[in-house]
Amino acid sequence: MAFLLALLALLATGTLSWAEAKPPNILFILADDLGFNDVSFHGSPQIPTPNIDEIARTGITLNSYYAQPVCSPTRATIMSGRHVSHTGIYMPLMMGTAARLNISYSTLPQFLEKLGYDTHMVGKWHLGQNELAAMPTGRGFASFFGYLSGEEDYITHQAAGAFDLFDGTRTAFEFNGTHSTGLWVSKVLNLLSKPSEKPFFIYLAFQNVHWPLEPTEEALRRFEGKTGGDAQRQGVCGLASMLDDAVGQVIRKLKDQRLYDDTLIVFASDNGGPTNGFQGTWSSNYPMRGGKNTLWEGGTRVAAAIRGPGIPQELVGSVSYHKVHAADWLPTLVRVAANDPKWLERNWPQGEPVFELGDGMDVWDTFSKGVAVREEVLLEAHQQDETRIAHGNSLIVGDWKILKLSPSQQEEFGWVPPPGQNPREVEYQLPCRLADQPRSVDYTECSEEFCLFNVASDPCEYRNVAKEHPKIVARLAERLAEYQKTAVPAVNSKDCGCAPVMVKGAWRPCDLPDPGAAWALRNLVV
Ligand SMILES: *[C@@H]1O[C@H](CO)[C@@H](O)[C@H](O)[C@H]1NC(C)=O
Ligand SMILES: *[C@@H]1O[C@H](CO)[C@@H](O)[C@H](O)[C@H]1NC(C)=O
Repeated sequence: MAFLLALLALLATGTLSWAEAKPPNILFILADDLGFNDVSFHGSPQIPTPNIDEIARTGITLNSYYAQPVCSPTRATIMSGRHVSHTGIYMPLMMGTAARLNISYSTLPQFLEKLGYDTHMVGKWHLGQNELAAMPTGRGFASFFGYLSGEEDYITHQAAGAFDLFDGTRTAFEFNGTHSTGLWVSKVLNLLSKPSEKPFFIYLAFQNVHWPLEPTEEALRRFEGKTGGDAQRQGVCGLASMLDDAVGQVIRKLKDQRLYDDTLIVFASDNGGPTNGFQGTWSSNYPMRGGKNTLWEGGTRVAAAIRGPGIPQELVGSVSYHKVHAADWLPTLVRVAANDPKWLERNWPQGEPVFELGDGMDVWDTFSKGVAVREEVLLEAHQQDETRIAHGNSLIVGDWKILKLSPSQQEEFGWVPPPGQNPREVEYQLPCRLADQPRSVDYTECSEEFCLFNVASDPCEYRNVAKEHPKIVARLAERLAEYQKTAVPAVNSKDCGCAPVMVKGAWRPCDLPDPGAAWALRNLVV
């Protein structure tokens, strides 16, 4: 009876028609530093990831999905739909500074909230910590359980010398000593247990497999003798395996609650894995070139898959090489939630700058019809006088990619298979002939002049063909210059207000320093 009355009330206000089905739930799972070659659906059995593989197998594997080469830039882009050349977040935000994603930009959860969604965030934020308005609960999430920094201890939740774990806006000291992977899962299972008339959006941003390498002893033992004696690789394998278990627990709960078929699930990594012992860790993007912190394919073309309502039977289990960029999630998911490709345009917040060249595109037709929508992917662009900052300049147009690197991490330059994996025994899901892999690496390559790669036929970037195709280089450089025109300088923390503060050993926003205080305003309004 109560349900019927609620339904009649909705009909009376015109927000629901009989013909309209409930919009899908959306579960967005983001992994941290997980390499292209750290999931078994890409071919290697070294790290069995049956649960993540299920998302790919029952949906679409996105093998030309691009993100930024480091953490905060990708996250800012997912949340705002804006390219880093417009958010100004080219590098990870530094703990303890005021820097943040511009709070005047509307976020994905803010739009979904307007569309009637329950919005929840669990896990890593890394988009600002200085004021309440910059925290997830100030950016469109009705609930938040997680941390605000980029790199912290999984168990003590210490980051840059202070405790960083929040339940809403309250510091959650009670979980000091509890591993984050299990914490996030418990929270999500809890959310999924509560029935709601509204569809949900859950942004589940895992800490795995970022360093410090702290898998449980049990997870570590699974890889005993399987990583060529390399302890760092074993640590990453353990963390990836724990991540997969966690995804499995969430999928099982969705099935138990009969929510699985009504939930669109996105799985993606935030950037290419740091490889080869760099930063004391050993993710793998092999056979692609390079890793985290670089604009090579290995740093930017990351593991991703999508499954759920709206993906037609004929595309289930397929591998797509149509381009998708991290900026596309906002317009695409909002379109799905609204069931209307024009909703975003019609509901654009007054006075807010509109999307520019390089920002998000609605790529739903790629997922629902299997057709190409995006032809170009901007990886990074800077104004001319800033070509030496951040990672460099790079643009993909069709099959071609131009690339000019700023001085980079040499550890992340070449092609190194992970210890314990024999490449000759693996069918990687990319058309690279391992026999063509150069024997040595030129660390100055692409730093003075543009390199050119055909990333359709040579996704492993074995052969720079700039000399053979000067006209193509010139055409792409000209196109890149259009992107460079709108690129903004890096965010300056001086423009972002007061710095976060350390209180009772914990990081706190400067406008709510009391660790025990919960910011209740939002709940009062509802
Ligand atoms: C976390 O627990 C450890 C061990 O009990 C303790 O030494 C540390 O001070 C605690 N951290 C915080 C921020 O309370
Ligand atoms: C945030 O974006 C607005 C609109 O583009 C801009 O005017 C403002 O300067 C930006 N704020 C910061 C701190 O960058």
